[in-house]
Amino acid sequence: MANGLRTPLCDFLGIEYPIVLAGMAAGGQSQTTAPTPVKLVAAVSNAGGLGVMGDNFADLDDLDAGIRELRGLVGDKPFGVDFLLPATRAEVTSTSKHEVYADIRMEYPRHVAVVEELIAEHGLESAELSPSEPMSTDLLNRKIDVLLDNKVPVFAAALGDPAFMTERAHAQGMKVIGMAGAVRHAERQRAANVDIITAQGTEAGGHTGNISTMVLVPQIVDAVDPMPVLAAGGIGTGRQVAAALALGAQGVWVGTAFLASDETNIPSDHQEQILGGRSENFTLSKFLSGKQQRSYQNLVKDAWADSGLPPLEMPLQGILQEPFTRAARMSGRYDLVGNPSGQISGMLNESRPARDILMDMVDEAGATVERMRSQVG
Ligand SMILES: Cc1cc2nc3c(=O)[nH]c(=O)nc-3n(C[C@H](O)[C@H](O)[C@H](O)COP(=O)(O)O)c2cc1C
Repeated sequence: MANGLRTPLCDFLGIEYPIVLAGMAAGGQSQTTAPTPVKLVAAVSNAGGLGVMGDNFADLDDLDAGIRELRGLVGDKPFGVDFLLPATRAEVTSTSKHEVYADIRMEYPRHVAVVEELIAEHGLESAELSPSEPMSTDLLNRKIDVLLDNKVPVFAAALGDPAFMTERAHAQGMKVIGMAGAVRHAERQRAANVDIITAQGTEAGGHTGNISTMVLVPQIVDAVDPMPVLAAGGIGTGRQVAAALALGAQGVWVGTAFLASDETNIPSDHQEQILGGRSENFTLSKFLSGKQQRSYQNLVKDAWADSGLPPLEMPLQGILQEPFTRAARMSGRYDLVGNPSGQISGMLNESRPARDILMDMVDEAGATVERMRSQVG
């Protein structure tokens, strides 16, 4: 049955099953809070899928060490690393978040007042900014160099345009995945010469667009044919994997469903929100990062919506909120910390080993195809 799930993408990537763990990075610069820590990525690659690691590293040395650790766990099995490369963002030239914050305070005093009110209202102690370097073009280039130096098999680029690195990647056999939430994004990714496109529907957790997976995937499959497409957004069962293949995708890119794994390092309160939540509890907002994101509904999203202020551009909105978000984390108030996760949460009820999650999807997809053969025609 499992063999029935093999698609040409499996041969292209050197994997057994066309199931990819989405690179997920929300939650900070540490493996201890990472949605996709090394152990989860390794579990998916070792189970026959493709594990992709999100960007949860304090600095470039930490990223380098993470890749080496992962390689030690998967041997010669393929894996990937994912970075956000936002196509539009505020260009930050300072490497100091304190300087960036001082500029935000000058230019957007009403936004800073909302953050200070949130801190006071919830009885928190304002926290220091994290020491990590703010996102900039220069930092992204240095991170890409770490991937190239380590000969990472697959690079996944979210939100933006990886054209600046695809030639260098291909020169050493690295495959590049580009993310698309609309046909125009897919066309931009194809022009950037990526190898695979992820068509991500609005159901998804994290940054996401407005078009549903059911509508988006076949449009992108047609627009970029014969380039292979991964379907994403709201996929967590074998029935949904079979549906994605029926829409013309050659595989699936799965995020939230792997947050219900034993190996993820998201806070347990956030995992409980996912396991206990209904699909409608996972709502869209631009106030976590400056770009539209789907996450568990909470009081902070309400407060920003009530303020009537527009979100700042990425990465400024995230930096703006750090004194509050870090304070909430330090006090264990995870109910006040954004929990990016998708509508599939309404179908997730228990935490399980990642291998079981993957193999259940494989088996159920095969059974679904068999059932359809016997039911249809
Ligand atoms: C907690 C979380 C963090 C995410 N971080 C990233 C990221 O850093 N880069 C990225 O390409 N996508 C990110 N995403 C989006 C996922 O890669 C993926 O497209 C999405 O989870 C798929 O939809 P699903 O959640 O319904 O499976 C994130 C998603 C979640 C839930």
